[in-house]
Order: sequence, then structure tokens, then C-alpha cells
Amino acid sequence: MCSSLLAYCLILAVFLSQGFIQVSCFGFNFSTFQKEDERQLILSKNSYIVQNAIQVTPDITGGSMENLSGRALYRKSFRLYKGNRTIASFNTTFVLNIQSRTSPGGEGMAFIITGNYSLPENSDEKWLGIVNANSNGSPQAMVVAVEFDTRKSYDEDLDGNHIGLNINSIDSITQVSLGGYGINISGGEDLRVHLQYDGKNLTVFVGDNKTLVLSQPLDLSAYLPEKVFVGFSASTSNQTELNCVKSWAFFGTDIGDRNLLWVWILIPAVVLALITGVLFCLCWRRDPIEQDLEGAPGNIEDEITRSNLAPRKFRLKELKQATGNFSPKYKLGKGGFGTVYKGSWRNKDVAVKRVSKKSHQGKQEFIAELTTIGNLNHKNLVKLIGWCYERRELLLVYEYMPNGSLDKFIFCDDKASMEELTLSWEQRLTIIQGVAQALEYLHNGCQKRVLHRDIKASNIMLDTEFIARLGDFGLARTIQEKEKTHHSTVEIAGTPGYMAPETFLISRATVETDVYSFGVLVLEVVCGRKPGNQSEQNNYNNSIVNWLWEYYRKGRITDAADSRMDGNFIEKEVECVLILGLACCHPNPHCRPSMRTVLQVLSGEADPPELPLERPSFVWPAMPPSFGQMDYSHKGSQLTPFTELTGR
Ligand SMILES: *[C@@H]1O[C@H](CO)[C@@H](O)[C@H](O)[C@H]1NC(C)=O
Ligand SMILES: *[C@@H]1O[C@H](CO)[C@@H](O)[C@H](O)[C@H]1NC(C)=O
Ligand SMILES: *[C@@H]1O[C@H](CO)[C@@H](O)[C@H](O)[C@H]1NC(C)=O
Ligand SMILES: *[C@@H]1O[C@H](CO)[C@@H](O)[C@H](O)[C@H]1NC(C)=O
Ligand SMILES: *[C@@H]1O[C@H](CO)[C@@H](O)[C@H](O)[C@H]1NC(C)=O
Ligand SMILES: *[C@@H]1O[C@H](CO)[C@@H](O)[C@H](O)[C@H]1NC(C)=O
Ligand SMILES: *[C@@H]1O[C@H](CO)[C@@H](O)[C@H](O)[C@H]1NC(C)=O
Ligand SMILES: *[C@@H]1O[C@H](CO)[C@@H](O)[C@H](O)[C@H]1NC(C)=O
Ligand SMILES: *[C@@H]1O[C@H](CO)[C@@H](O)[C@H](O)[C@H]1NC(C)=O
Repeated sequence: MCSSLLAYCLILAVFLSQGFIQVSCFGFNFSTFQKEDERQLILSKNSYIVQNAIQVTPDITGGSMENLSGRALYRKSFRLYKGNRTIASFNTTFVLNIQSRTSPGGEGMAFIITGNYSLPENSDEKWLGIVNANSNGSPQAMVVAVEFDTRKSYDEDLDGNHIGLNINSIDSITQVSLGGYGINISGGEDLRVHLQYDGKNLTVFVGDNKTLVLSQPLDLSAYLPEKVFVGFSASTSNQTELNCVKSWAFFGTDIGDRNLLWVWILIPAVVLALITGVLFCLCWRRDPIEQDLEGAPGNIEDEITRSNLAPRKFRLKELKQATGNFSPKYKLGKGGFGTVYKGSWRNKDVAVKRVSKKSHQGKQEFIAELTTIGNLNHKNLVKLIGWCYERRELLLVYEYMPNGSLDKFIFCDDKASMEELTLSWEQRLTIIQGVAQALEYLHNGCQKRVLHRDIKASNIMLDTEFIARLGDFGLARTIQEKEKTHHSTVEIAGTPGYMAPETFLISRATVETDVYSFGVLVLEVVCGRKPGNQSEQNNYNNSIVNWLWEYYRKGRITDAADSRMDGNFIEKEVECVLILGLACCHPNPHCRPSMRTVLQVLSGEADPPELPLERPSFVWPAMPPSFGQMDYSHKGSQLTPFTELTGR
């Protein structure tokens, strides 16, 4: 109790100090833009997000593109300086994509730092949304801009392809043509720009190799108010172009007084918490078993207690006894993060997973398992009975599955035991239905949406009746309510062969990537084949999906069923399940069925989704199904290139 309290205080201290560090810098990172990101921006009347980019001036879907200007700024203001003492520094990286619609294009874009977020009236044509004829040259404009000019619209302009630094004016104090760097700003290529301000100099780098193109001593505080808005402006004239920002990250030092306040509140609070903790411990020394927790990273205990778990907390002693002191004799298997032992506890068989002490990921996995499945209860999930965290040992206790994992049965190379291990069609169908039910429950049935992220044969356990139980939640993530519209969680994880092609591009798991893995599993179970080594997008063609689609195209899909079943199945059922499996593996995530639909198909309430005979190529970004009927003549003019990652 005492040590947990101290641990708690330590956690509090760490947590608070992290809070402090976060508060002390201003930053954001949009690796792409979604419609809902509009809330984080101040968008002028002609600016909006579409095609995963900010269209600072309208794209072709917005009607006329001529004679317009726009501004898109980050909603929160950035404190540039305070009094005459400190000037903030910042870094920003963004990707512009400017595609001319006339030759030459016009007029250009700018990265702006401004005290006034409003778009000046009549700032189209040569004004780039920076100033207008009235405010040009006036300190009231309060704007510093790095312009990306795509048209020589007056004599002072160097050419139709230059960068310039402008202060309260459309005239640049310095200009550099990008022609010499092999860059055509309005050529429709992505232009990556990195801009750095250290309080004294503003430096601009372009291209993927960060070529320095402009560096200028500059005191921003001389022209701008203390609080500024950062973002983009652009304009068109009778010459037009698509003015897009495809990604944008900004990091600045936060010199607001907010964090000073934090320091004054935080430091005494942390000190007080620690002193209280230590004093309390001195009076309460009596729990020797948990003493060693003091030296341990406390956040584990904290995360577990916070999640209010139903599973039991075990003593290390009990689990040592149950597994014969983790005797190799009782070893059931070894996974990525630890070893599983068979144990006997209160005359019941249990499986005990001992998470590797060395692995940092092991700890995360431990917490993931506990906090995602700890409170879930479903007949197709492996039940977590309890956990133990003592003497730096992380242990998880599950119900024991006498038949082990599914992979043993479906990819069996050992001819001798083949007879005995072959699953019948009914068993296979029951297993598929079981996994589908588990996944539907995780996605839609429990309080918080859970993404499993690692559906594969070796993570499906079979109980005595060969009912499937989904296990190994080491990579699972709970999706918070507010993120639910995204249906997603950041960071790539999973097993090659089961990962949807878009995983590599969007770097996140979604409901649809879980459905994809489920589809691969279905195909494996019916065909008795491994998913193939599609370790990268390039190898996507070797996958079981591609292999089976070929059978489907030839109208012989049931020929792919596992020969070990000796044709003992109802052909209609096998066909339906295989088509369903393929539909789950549709290259376009929007075309994959939801787990709810999957269940309806499996129970015969619905027909399998319609599937084209030719496997569609993987294109990104994926089009929502309704786009499929769209006039394709529009497509060529959309700014996001439709990357073809695979041929047939
Ligand atoms: C922004 O995030 C993306 C992916 O989330 C990452 O690749 C990129 O490096 C980040 N940018 C910066 C400047 O940190
Ligand atoms: C800062 O400004 C104040 C008046 O606003 C002035 O008295 C002081 O000398 C200035 N400090 C510096 C370092 O310029
Ligand atoms: C900007 O980037 C440079 C180098 O990448 C780094 O040294 C500096 O700390 C960064 N400044 C801010 C405010 O993030
Ligand atoms: C900000 O700009 C708008 C549009 O140009 C103008 O109407 C407004 O007066 C400006 N605000 C300030 C405080 O200068
Ligand atoms: C840049 O590319 C556009 C579109 O291809 C073309 O119209 C324009 O002349 C090019 N500009 C330069 C400076 O090469
Ligand atoms: C920044 O400005 C100082 C003078 O103010 C100069 O000596 C230095 O070289 C500049 N640095 C860069 C990276 O341009
Ligand atoms: C940067 O990359 C471009 C091509 O993308 C190349 O022409 C140029 O030489 C490179 N510059 C440096 C400094 O490596
Ligand atoms: C666009 O307007 C400029 C003057 O503003 C004119 O010189 C040019 O010819 C016009 N271009 C077209 C295509 O109308
Ligand atoms: C854009 O402005 C130019 C010259 O100012 C004019 O000739 C042209 O008609 C305008 N285009 C539209 C669509 O208003």
C-alpha cells in the first residue's frame, strides 16, 4: 500500500512534469488533411479541405477558379514574443502542390505570419491574399510572407517561378528564382518546404534534401504583434492554378506566461506530493512483497488500477507454484513478447504468459492486454483470469485452451498426424463464425471500440469443442469515444501477410484493416494455405488474396478449398464463404463489408457482397464507392495523384 502510494506520487510527478513540457511548446502536425481538420483552421471564404489537402483557393469542383484569393490559418494563435525580452523560434515543414490550369499558372501562394487572420478584400490577382491595393506597404497589414510566386505579374517580379520574402507588402525584400534548383513551383509536383526562424534569421529550405534557398536576418517582432496566426494564402487571376497544401507541421517555442504560471503551481505541488508520499511510507512500512515496486517504473500499476479491472490480481508466489517455477516442462509456446506456460491453479488448468522483462514493448503489450480485454466478456474471446506485477515480473493468466492455436490445424506439414488434425468443413465454418462474432463484438458491441490489429491463425485458440477464441491482445488498442469517427489508431503494427495494403500508406489501423486481416484468415481456413509472404506492398501480388482471386476469375473458386477435406462440404457454402473472404480483402477499404454484414452473410441472412471478377488494382487514395460512378473526366484534374501500386 505504502509503496503503491509512493509509486503513485512518482507517477504524478512524471505525469505533471510531462504536462509541463507539453505546455511549453506550441506545435501541430497534419500529415494529411481530413474534412474534420477544418475545425482546427480558420478558413476564408474560398478555402476548404478536399482531396486530403487544403485548397487555399477553390479546386475545379468549386466553380470558377478565376480572380479569387483565400487564406487558411491555424486556429490557435502563436506567441511570437513577449515584451522586448524573448522572441520565439519556430520550425515549419509543409508540402505545397500547385498545378497550373493555364499557362503560365497564376498567381501563387504564400506562407504567412500575420496579426490579422482576415482575408483582405480584393487581394486576388497579384496580391496573393497577402495584402490589397490599400494596405500594400502599410504597417497596419501586419503580415510577413514567404511567397511562392508562379507568375511574373509586374516588373519587380524576378520571373514566374520564384520565392520571395515580403513584409507588409507584395514587393519582396529579397527574391530567389527556383529555376536554378530544378524546381517548377506550378508544375504540379509536391514541393516540400522547410522554414526555420531562430529569432534572428529566417531561413527557407526546399525539396526533399532540404536545399537552402534563402536566408535573411529578420526581426519579426518589429512588424508583427505579440500574438500571430500562421498559415497560407493564395490567389488566382485570369491565370489559374490549384493551390494546395498537402501536409503541414509546425513547432515553436512557447514563451507565453501560461507556462510560468504552471511552474509556480506545479513545482510546489509535485514537491508536496513527494513529501507526503515519503512521510506516509515511513509510517506504513509493512508490505514487504511489494517493496521492490519502488524501483520499478510505476506507470504500469497505475494504468491497471485506473482501468478498474475485473480480473484477479495474483501473487507471484501463487503463479510460481502453479507453473512449477516456470519449468520448461510446462512451456506451451513462445510469442513475440514472452513465454506461455501451462499451470494449475485451484485444480483448474490455466495458461500463464510471462512477459519478457527486457522488452519495453512487453510492458506496453501487458498494459494493452489488460486494459483492452480485461473487462470484456465474450464466448469467442480468450478469457483473461488475472494478472500479476511483482518483482518486475509481468504475468498474465488466461483460461487454458487444450487444443492450442488454429495455425497448427490448418497449415499442417506433418503428414503422419494429418488425419487426426484435419478440420471438417463444419468445424472450419464454426471457427470462422466464432472469430467473426468476436470481432463484431470488439468493433461494435462493447462500450469502447477495440481494434485487435493482429488477427491471424496463431492468435486464434481452440477450446475443447473446437470453438474459436480470439486471443493475444498485445497489439490491440481501445479507440476513445472522440476518435470513434476516425475509426483508427496511429502507428503501424501487425503481421505481414495479414496487413491491408493501405496500412503502409496511412500508417494506422482501422476497422477496415481488421476486416482485411479477418478476410485473409477466412481464406486460409478454407484453403489450408499460408497467407504468402507479402512483406511489402510490392509483394502484395504473391498473397493468398491474389491467388484466390485468380480462381474466382476463372469461376472455379471452390477448387481452392483445402484438399484435405476430400470434397466433404456443401459447395454453395464454401463458395459463399470464399467470396465473403475475398470481399473482406478488397483493395479498396471502402468496399470491404463491416463485421456486421459479415455475420449476416455467414448466417445466410444476406448474400455475399458483389465482387468484380478482376481483382481491382490498389489505388490510393481510395475512392468512396459513390465516386465509382463519378464522371471520370474529372479525375485527371484532381490534385492527389492516384498512385498505382500494383499492376496485374
Ligand atoms: C509529422 O507526422 C508524420 C507522420 O505522422 C511524420 O512522418 C513526420 O515526420 C512528422 N513531421 C514532423 C515535422 O515531425
Ligand atoms: C524594454 O522596454 C522597456 C520599455 O518598454 C525599456 O525600458 C527597456 O529598456 C527595454 N529593454 C531592452 C532590453 O531593450
Ligand atoms: C528547429 O529545427 C532545428 C533543427 O532541425 C532544431 O535545432 C531546433 O530546435 C528547432 N526549433 C524548434 C523551435 O523546434
Ligand atoms: C483585419 O483585416 C480586415 C480585412 O482586411 C479589416 O477589415 C480589419 O479592420 C483588420 N483588423 C485589424 C485589427 O486591423
Ligand atoms: C511550370 O509548369 C507549368 C505546367 O507544366 C508550365 O505551364 C510552366 O511554363 C512551367 N514553368 C517553368 C518556369 O518552367
Ligand atoms: C544569421 O544571421 C547572422 C547575423 O545576424 C549571421 O551571422 C548568420 O550567418 C545567419 N545564419 C544563417 C544560417 O543565415
Ligand atoms: C537535391 O535534389 C535535387 C533533385 O531532387 C538535385 O538536383 C540536387 O542536386 C540535390 N541537392 C543537393 C544539395 O543534394
Ligand atoms: C490576363 O490579364 C492580363 C492583364 O491583367 C492580360 O495581359 C492577359 O492577356 C490576360 N490573359 C488572358 C488569357 O486573358
Ligand atoms: C478576372 O479579372 C480579369 C481582369 O481583371 C477580367 O478580364 C476577367 O473577366 C475576370 N474573370 C472573372 C471570371 O471574373
